[in-house]
Amino acid sequence: MNKSFIKVSAPATISNVGCGFDVMGFATNIISDEVTIALSNRKGLSIKKISGDGNKLPYNVETNTCTKAILSVLKSLKLNLGLEVTISKKIGFGSGLGSSAASAVAGAFAINELLGRPFTKYELLNFAIEGERIASQATHADNVAPCLFGGFILIRSYNPIDLIELEPPKNLFCTVIHPQIEIKTSEARKILGRTIPLKAGVAQWGNVGALVAGILSKDINLIGRSVQDEVAEPKRAALIPRYYEIKNAALESGANGCNISGSGPAIFAFSKNENTAWQIGKAMKKVIEKEKIKSKIYVSRINKNGPRVIG
Ligand code: HSE
Repeated sequence: MNKSFIKVSAPATISNVGCGFDVMGFATNIISDEVTIALSNRKGLSIKKISGDGNKLPYNVETNTCTKAILSVLKSLKLNLGLEVTISKKIGFGSGLGSSAASAVAGAFAINELLGRPFTKYELLNFAIEGERIASQATHADNVAPCLFGGFILIRSYNPIDLIELEPPKNLFCTVIHPQIEIKTSEARKILGRTIPLKAGVAQWGNVGALVAGILSKDINLIGRSVQDEVAEPKRAALIPRYYEIKNAALESGANGCNISGSGPAIFAFSKNENTAWQIGKAMKKVIEKEKIKSKIYVSRINKNGPRVIG
């Protein structure tokens, strides 16, 4: 080990992308979590400080998503080092923007860099999934994978894990509204039930295929037509005040597709240029303001980089 300290950032992600429940997601440039790991004389792994979480995240290294991912890496290398972790949360807790995934990825990525990269990114994925599982109480990689690899990712299979990186059009802009309310992914998964009607399945896999075709052929109109969801949106819409009104406002302002980001409450909309993307954001904000709910608006292209060493 030639460094005694490392600081990394890992980006917010948008998962599901409408039709791709648990199998699609992309990285954004809007905000990133930051994690620092420093060598310490004290034995074992500990958390020195967590900021930006409103005191909601645990300091127990076994139940914190970030340190759980770090522990998984250390365990597989049979290492017991003295390490202190500092976590700076920028991505809202329960926002639908891959907050827990970003912390898990940042942790796994940071320890791997500090140790001189014993693992490939592909190998790191499982450690990050271990961390993420604590928050969502389920195994899903549609935030973790795009956070770690950057870009737009399709998960063809979980067992064995098989990721396909798709190259989105350069002029694909994404507007995000983050209403300042919290939705727990674990709760938002419980309301989905375990089965879907055949008719919903038919519509869903038609859209999944078309969304992939739209990305590969750089056809933003086709991408927009395919950002539809028969599985999660009909049930989760009720968790987000005025969801369908917000979606309509986005579509009327020129959005090519709009849907819930992950398990919400954030909502994303695609468009073809930055100006339209901001107009969409304004229109969405106007609707949520009727509920006296504060919100943040972001505009981003798809982030191709994933996590970065920043110190
Ligand atoms: N695919 C997951 C879900 C993402 O929708 O439950 C959670 O952020």
